[in-house]
Amino acid sequence: MSDVLARPDLHPLRDDADWWRQAAVYQIYPRSFADSDGDGIGDLRGIRARVPYLQGLGIDAVWMSPFYPSALADGGYDVDDYRDVDPRLGTLADFDDLVAALHEAGIRVIIDIVPNHTSDRHEWFREALASPRGSAARARYVFRDGLGPDGSLPPADWTSAFGGPAWEAVGDGQWYLHYFATEQPDLNWDNREVRDDFLRTLRFWSDRGVDGFRIDVAHGLAKRLDDDLPDQATLDSLPRDGAHPLWDRDEVHEIYAEWRRVFDEYTPPRTGVAEAWVESHRRPRYASVDGLGQAFNFDLLEASFDAAEFRRIVDANLALAAASGSSTTWVLSNHDVVRHATRYGLPEPSAPGEKHGAAWLLSGGATPPLDRERGLRRARAATLLVLGLPGSAYLYQGEELGLPEVAEIPAAERQDPAYFRNPGVDIGRDGCRVPLPWTAEGDSFGFGPDGAHLPQPDWFGEYAADGQVDDPTSTLSMYRRALALRHDLQGAEELEWVPTPDPDVVHFRRPDGWEVVANFGTEPAPLPEGSVLVASGDLVGDRLPGETTAWLRR
Ligand code: GLC
Repeated sequence: MSDVLARPDLHPLRDDADWWRQAAVYQIYPRSFADSDGDGIGDLRGIRARVPYLQGLGIDAVWMSPFYPSALADGGYDVDDYRDVDPRLGTLADFDDLVAALHEAGIRVIIDIVPNHTSDRHEWFREALASPRGSAARARYVFRDGLGPDGSLPPADWTSAFGGPAWEAVGDGQWYLHYFATEQPDLNWDNREVRDDFLRTLRFWSDRGVDGFRIDVAHGLAKRLDDDLPDQATLDSLPRDGAHPLWDRDEVHEIYAEWRRVFDEYTPPRTGVAEAWVESHRRPRYASVDGLGQAFNFDLLEASFDAAEFRRIVDANLALAAASGSSTTWVLSNHDVVRHATRYGLPEPSAPGEKHGAAWLLSGGATPPLDRERGLRRARAATLLVLGLPGSAYLYQGEELGLPEVAEIPAAERQDPAYFRNPGVDIGRDGCRVPLPWTAEGDSFGFGPDGAHLPQPDWFGEYAADGQVDDPTSTLSMYRRALALRHDLQGAEELEWVPTPDPDVVHFRRPDGWEVVANFGTEPAPLPEGSVLVASGDLVGDRLPGETTAWLRR
């Protein structure tokens, strides 16, 4: 299969400093991508063997989620050592080989940096535990005395993002802050040693040829914790306007200004993309040219499949990107959310603020009923629209196969701390992290020679890559065609809306006669004039069916 997909003519490595502005970036969740050695955990050699597939897909870059040594308390976002590779995933030599192979294939490499917290196995944290209160070792983290005469009560009633308390006692009256899992102690970014060590890490990987960094929880590093800690209700009520004690503080950008200076030591400059869950008007700060350079726009993760909503989000984000001098980013799926092929096949959430798909997952995939066909039809339409937009598109492994979320993972096999810390409320994110099906048959559907670390359902083979390669109507073929076309078509970062009489239809024009028309309704709409380059579903004569997108050239 790999050979069939190899199209070396497709992508010479773009060597200009702006390569990232309109890149199609493919997110690899390494433990679930491809396993070379049969331990059930995906690894670097597994990815290496799939470079021809990635090249044939037509992406410009990969972003690899953490591959560092880790106890996997949070899928690798609990890092033991920022400058090494988890032995289960390979060695630094394997990493170098992989980067060389990707570059050779014209694919740039972005890696995940997790600066908000280390793991509790990191040498710094072990040293902190072995050191007394007030020590330099503890000052790298956020330690506070507990309340009550013997310090047996937490310093504040804060809850972690995964549920449960955010403070953990260490046995001597002190507690440490972990905004995520207990195994993820938050770092103290007021500490110069912490700052310097991350600069060293950025150089370490940049020297090894890494092209850019995705910054985890980028809005959380700067914290202002006075002696009197506010309670959770106060934290929740405070505006996130730059002065909130924990989130999106203005001075976080001093950290990224330093990082930018490191990025700019390289040619081409290294890039950054912030995972910053902030008010949208504050996003440009992260994306600024003096800062990380780009920030994720997650608006589509929370949007309905709705023409007006998509249009509003496109306009808002193009304006935000222009405000920062950056390009915008589009995301429909990632390792933290229900896959979009499933989201779009479920009714809208019934309660405000409820995550789309959460109730369905909690019911083990029983209710509300999932319309899988419709989900896929809409997912393909949404993807084709997004790939036609200016800016960069971040794709999540498996979406090119139309892969749905897996709901039927037994409790005993779940791994996500969000599940364990929130019983009955949050089922966690394992359902989008199930190892990929490469072949319709065979052990773990071709993921590896011997099993998969999360169970794959029986129906996974229906989505296997090998069954889609030669089928021109498959989702994989649509992605390949669109990505190849996009490579040639993507010109200036401009878009002009074309008025449509039907409110369910969006139509826009890109430079050089490239047009994109998407029908969010269920009834067919007239297809504008032009030759069809690619469509997300079958076209019927001069009609664009419901829940379908087409690219045209005038
Ligand atoms: C980010 C990651 C998520 C992780 C969390 C804590 O949101 O995307 O997977 O659990 O940070 O590191």
